[in-house]
Amino acid sequence: MPAVVVIGGQWGDEGKGRVVDFHSGYCSVIARYSAGNNAGHTIINDRGKFALHLVPAGIFRGEKACIIGNGVVIDPEKLIAEIAMLTERGVSTARLMISEHAHVIMPWHPIIDRAEEKLKGDLAIGTTGTGTGPAFYDKVARIGIRVADLLDKGFFEWKLRSALEYKNRVLQDLYQLPPLDFDEIFAKYTEFGERMRPYVADTIAYVQEADERGEYILLEGAQGTLLDLDTGTYPYVTSSVPASVAAGGAIGIGLGPTAIQRVVGVYKSYQTRVGNGPMPTEITSGDEMVMLREGTGGAAGTAEYGTTTGRARRVGWFDGVLARYTARLNGVTSVALTRLDSLSALESIKVCVAYELDDQRITTLPPTVNAMNRAKPIYEELPGWGQDVTHVRHLGDLPTEARQYVRRIEQILGVPVDMISVGPERHQAIVTRDVFGASIEP
Ligand code: IMP
Ligand code: MG
Repeated sequence: MPAVVVIGGQWGDEGKGRVVDFHSGYCSVIARYSAGNNAGHTIINDRGKFALHLVPAGIFRGEKACIIGNGVVIDPEKLIAEIAMLTERGVSTARLMISEHAHVIMPWHPIIDRAEEKLKGDLAIGTTGTGTGPAFYDKVARIGIRVADLLDKGFFEWKLRSALEYKNRVLQDLYQLPPLDFDEIFAKYTEFGERMRPYVADTIAYVQEADERGEYILLEGAQGTLLDLDTGTYPYVTSSVPASVAAGGAIGIGLGPTAIQRVVGVYKSYQTRVGNGPMPTEITSGDEMVMLREGTGGAAGTAEYGTTTGRARRVGWFDGVLARYTARLNGVTSVALTRLDSLSALESIKVCVAYELDDQRITTLPPTVNAMNRAKPIYEELPGWGQDVTHVRHLGDLPTEARQYVRRIEQILGVPVDMISVGPERHQAIVTRDVFGASIEP
């Protein structure tokens, strides 16, 4: 039976959380398959506003299995705090499962993350400082510690001792930082292991069996495709292995690629980015920048500040060149266009349809960051609609100019827009077709 992947088509923060929340209605398993607590989802529902970094957004639908898959890296302290926060607010985590193969963010990872950013100078990425990148390097370097390791005291002791000996040399000799204490970490992480033990499972077998039973599995992407290590705006990307693109969903949860039959691409109606790196359509000053960042045209409380770090997001016009590129990379079959309401106060709206690069018009990704920084967006300008749309629930009730804007994005992507969000609340959306293309509204 089909697995459905929900991915971000830009630089993250497209509003995947609420789209996952919507699709988790018909799926019985909801899973995270990559990244770590560098990711952040904001979900607003009848219980209030929640920021999730590790627990899948499906947790609010009590009867669903929620899995943190083998492709995720876990900071146990952060995960335990997130579980406690949910429990305190009356959200059950009884059906949460943690893959025994997921890697663990250890105390040296955030330290190295920050130290490395300093050492990198001009190559600094503007990471979230969560240690996610360094945890993935250790995974690839084959010295990572996995969740199952924490649960086997003797094995963990041996593994930690060897890893720490190496990491303390890196901390002292390379970064001139104090070494970390074995006993302290051993005690703390053994305890974390015990706290996680009730949730730890062979999640690969679980999803494979769910798949065989014909259940729908929702794979929840983290970050956006343009932050992907292989296909994003390298080196200003995140380090997740497997990739955050849809194809990574199979690896990061333990399914074959043929299990993935639908891919929902989430695109914001404009562009945002946190951290460094090229962003051709960025607006760096003026009213339009303020309007996009503060979300003044739409619902309150939708300002563009990071869920994880609180940093102000960079904002800009919808980049059609990059959007078409990511739609193809992910094999997107259905688009969710978010935050249309944030554009409501604008008199006219620009959409980038090509770049001018060294006197040539191109419609593909420039090959280097340098070329991307030189690329000048070629815009089409569309009229704004100048009215609030947060109450609209049917496509036909959107102002003509807003429909025209959605149609233009649909043409650029070459994929139907099936869902449009017009506010942060669960019900503030226009849904025209389900994920299999069946019409919900004429
Ligand atoms: P890292 O993932 O912390 O190593 O950061 C690498 C880059 O990805 C930085 O530019 C971060 O700002 C960005 N990034 C990481 N996670 C997210 C996310 O969930 N949303 C948006 N940007 C992110
Ligand atoms: Mg986010």
